[in-house]
Amino acid sequence: MNKKLIGLLLVGLPFFASAADIEAGKAKSAVCVACHGADGISAVPIYPNLKGQKEVYLASSLKAYKASQRQGGMSALMIPQAAALSDTDIANLAAYYSSLK
Ligand code: HEC
Repeated sequence: MNKKLIGLLLVGLPFFASAADIEAGKAKSAVCVACHGADGISAVPIYPNLKGQKEVYLASSLKAYKASQRQGGMSALMIPQAAALSDTDIANLAAYYSSLK
């Protein structure tokens, strides 16, 4: 990867993070609760915990499901969930779950 691109990523990521709306993410998470638990801790072994996960990782995972790039495992359950989300929803949900301590 060239140095300019790395520089752009390093400069861009904090802006990406700060643009998100945690409260809007919390509101949007109502549909996620059924599988991932009310506080982002799942009661069912096949559903991963989301609480406190890295914001950038959450957003990139959701985008990968949405684009059907993340396959295998239990992804068939998650792809339609992510497909219903806008990029703004994804940013807000990632901010919300990463903010849970
Ligand atoms: C029908 C149950 C179900 C619902 C509803 C659901 N998920 Fe998931 N989610 C899953 C499953 C199962 C996986 C694991 C998929 C796999 O194996 O890749 C997953 C994986 C994820 C991952 C990746 C976690 C990791 O550690 O890699 C994220 C992020 C995620 N879900 C976010 C959400 C969000 C945000 C919502 C609400 C918009 C949501 N999910 C709704 C079942 C669900």
